[in-house]
Amino acid sequence: MSGDNEFVVVANRLPVDAIVDEHGGTTWTESPGGLVAALSPVLSARRGCWVGWPGLIDAAPAPFHTDSGILVHPVPLTADDHERFYEGFSNATLWPLYHDLIVTPTYHRDWWQSYRDVNYRFATEVDRVAAPGATVWVQDYQLQLVPGILRQLRPDLTIGFFLHIPFPGPDLFRQLPWREEVVRGLLGADLIGFHLVSNAENFLSLVQQVSGPKGSHTGQPDSLKVTGSASVRTTTASITASDGREVAVAAYPISIDPTSLGEADDKEVARRRAELGNPECILLGVDRLDYTKGILQRLEAFEELLEAGALDPNEVVFVQVATPSRERIEHYRTARRQVEEAVGRINGRFAKIGRPVVHYLHRSLPKRLLRHYYQAADVMVVTPFKDGMNLVAKEYVACHPDGSGALVLSEFAGAADELLQANLCNPFDIESLKRALLQAVRGLEHDPETMRSRMRAMHEQVLTFDVDAWANASLRDLDEARR
Ligand code: ADP
Ligand code: F6P
Repeated sequence: MSGDNEFVVVANRLPVDAIVDEHGGTTWTESPGGLVAALSPVLSARRGCWVGWPGLIDAAPAPFHTDSGILVHPVPLTADDHERFYEGFSNATLWPLYHDLIVTPTYHRDWWQSYRDVNYRFATEVDRVAAPGATVWVQDYQLQLVPGILRQLRPDLTIGFFLHIPFPGPDLFRQLPWREEVVRGLLGADLIGFHLVSNAENFLSLVQQVSGPKGSHTGQPDSLKVTGSASVRTTTASITASDGREVAVAAYPISIDPTSLGEADDKEVARRRAELGNPECILLGVDRLDYTKGILQRLEAFEELLEAGALDPNEVVFVQVATPSRERIEHYRTARRQVEEAVGRINGRFAKIGRPVVHYLHRSLPKRLLRHYYQAADVMVVTPFKDGMNLVAKEYVACHPDGSGALVLSEFAGAADELLQANLCNPFDIESLKRALLQAVRGLEHDPETMRSRMRAMHEQVLTFDVDAWANASLRDLDEARR
């Protein structure tokens, strides 16, 4: 028997964080995020709900409404699911594979088994709650089999899929021992969305190369018809699956909700600068502590600039805020250890008593405080080796409507496709990182007008193409795709 939700978002995580009190009681607060902000109005207008994992192992709360009224249907994960589906297949197999092998992916048959099982459980929960003919929007790499399973269980549904991380070139993807199953899973959707045209192109090349047995549960791509233009924000192609359905493939660069960062507050910003000793230049990094983000490499570039005297430790500070992430996975532990060693070494070499040159916080900050740091920072340093989009870069730009500040941005962040006026760099090349940092610092000193006009152009881009524009374009095309 189907449910009565006309619109279902399904994602690995629910948009809530658990707060466990001293008596072991749990309350849920809504996690602030662009996706939640963009989808809240759609969920209430269309009688919708959100299916996902509540973030605690073995927690199986009954469906409930979040503070802003979103109906959530929790899918519980056991300790074993967490280890094999989440830490294993999602984050030690797919994550490094899709981020161009920055570390070597691990392929384990029992992790794959768990990924299939958990995807099946998410799909059956959607089957239970979705009304006849409902629209289902599946999010991200943890749930790539859900479209295919749902297509079998519920042919009446309109199914969209969006990948929030990069999609690798076919030569890398073909390493995956279960490549046909993943492609078939995705092709269960009516519309597959990626951030970038290059991601969509990688997928289209792949489906031409990878094929499995005919008559399998979601069908193979029989032919590839490029129907759209290759420009960003338009559908790029469609594939005919073997069951005759047209599957649209498109690129929609995600963005932020500029209002979610709160109001500008100059007094608080002055306070933040004073806390840091009122330096002439504040450099800032804000990331999850992930080896893809290039945190160590940016610190090493900063260290070499201090060593060479190109930056003066009496005039600059580097603030690095790093949210703990996936901490039981070996490569994440190594990344943390290396970052913390670098912070200690740089301060040991260049700080004075009571005046660190690198300020390092290993925690999450409230959005309001994050905004003050964004506003206070003269140079934002975003240097991932590979990143689907990178919302931090866009958040920083959104906090500088007057064109102040500068953005050092990796060419390998999806955001670099839009933020063309940033100080772009290649994070694999320490000389390129150093050059971009110096150009930003010196540009602010010597050519503030040019820097201002570059930041203004980026600000305009971020405000015009915000997360609402992303959600509206994706959902419009999803409605269109099925019709
Ligand atoms: P990813 O999705 O890989 O973590 P993004 O840059 O796309 O990377 O998104 C990160 C989001 O998490 C941003 O909205 C950013 O504000 C938030 N974030 C990152 N680090 C912190 C932190 N230390 N405290 C609070 N929020 C953070
Ligand atoms: O960028 C991909 C992503 O899954 C985001 O959607 C999410 O906010 C982030 O990584 C953190 O992931 P996790 O759910 O593993 O903490």
